[in-house]
Amino acid sequence: MKVFENISLKAYNTFGIDAKARRMVVLEPGDDPVSLPLEGAWMVLGGGSNMVFTHDYDGTVVRLDTVQEVSVRPDGDCATVTAWGGMVMDDLVAWSLEQGLYGLENLTAIPGTVGASVVQNVGAYGVEAKDVVESVEVYDLGEGRFCTFSNADCRFAYRDSIFKHSAGRFLVLQVRYRLRREFTANLSYKALEGLSHASAAELRQAIADLRWGKLPRPEEHGSAGSFFKNPVVGEEVYESLRQRFADMPEAHRTAEGYKLSAGWLIDRAGWKGRTMGKAGVWPRNALVLYNAGGCTGTEVVALAREIQQDVKQKFGVALDPEAIII
Ligand code: EPU
Repeated sequence: MKVFENISLKAYNTFGIDAKARRMVVLEPGDDPVSLPLEGAWMVLGGGSNMVFTHDYDGTVVRLDTVQEVSVRPDGDCATVTAWGGMVMDDLVAWSLEQGLYGLENLTAIPGTVGASVVQNVGAYGVEAKDVVESVEVYDLGEGRFCTFSNADCRFAYRDSIFKHSAGRFLVLQVRYRLRREFTANLSYKALEGLSHASAAELRQAIADLRWGKLPRPEEHGSAGSFFKNPVVGEEVYESLRQRFADMPEAHRTAEGYKLSAGWLIDRAGWKGRTMGKAGVWPRNALVLYNAGGCTGTEVVALAREIQQDVKQKFGVALDPEAIII
């Protein structure tokens, strides 16, 4: 266990916001979370890929070290893979393909850690974490005990889980996945349709190319990926928008209603490529807010509010941030 006092969080959030924490405790595999020195306020930080710090944090930030620790147990046509929560998610995707284990490849190049990926139920290109997770081992910092959550216990939903609702209470120590030994490409995302003969490695490459075409490269510009969730509206609202905006992309029909493209709404409202202070709207994807050079969390939130108000006024649709604002 490593302890740091008065530490900048700049390297620990993908927006690259220079907020400070009073203390940071970093756990390594084998460390006992029971002995965590927690007094006063505390929060758990994953890869920081979905966080916007608007002020310094006057408490203890708990993180897992980002080491690769993963084990595999064959089980017929499948295998059970158990990964350390601090492991970088994309390293797990790469590792799984090297082992000839499939199911994670569509989640290629998603930023963040294994633990954060279940909190957020990350998803991209037709796959969500919930499709491959079998169970999650956590340490409940609130109650001071270890618990196992089955997939159903996690109450996964679109960019949501039970863990997201008790912000920072659960430290995700390990995630258990069920992966397949045989590769069948999931090509349900439209832009992947032509890849029916691709190998898993080719699919991974195609997804990385698609993703980096639309998102800023983390080493060049900080961001939190999609800043807003895609809003879900009722049939009446959807039909009336369709009448008014013939160029609006077709919505995805879900159990909750019609899922619109927040990126399109923000783009159509004229925000693509605009900046406010040092926070900007990514020129190739209006759903992504980015750090245009030394921005503060307050600048990001101010830009997000302007966008929310404008989209509400122009389309009557409310946008909810996917990112967590501290
Ligand atoms: N669009 C625009 N202008 C824009 C951005 C998008 O017109 O500036 C349109 C696109 O042309 C397309 C539609 O909006 O018709 C949807 O865009 P896209 O397919 O790129 O997906 P998305 O709905 O914007 C979601 C996830 C991404 C994920 C992609 C691919 C959310 C909030 N975002 O984006 O996830 O990578 O699908 O599966 O659900 C993330 O959560 O951080 C993230 C990057």
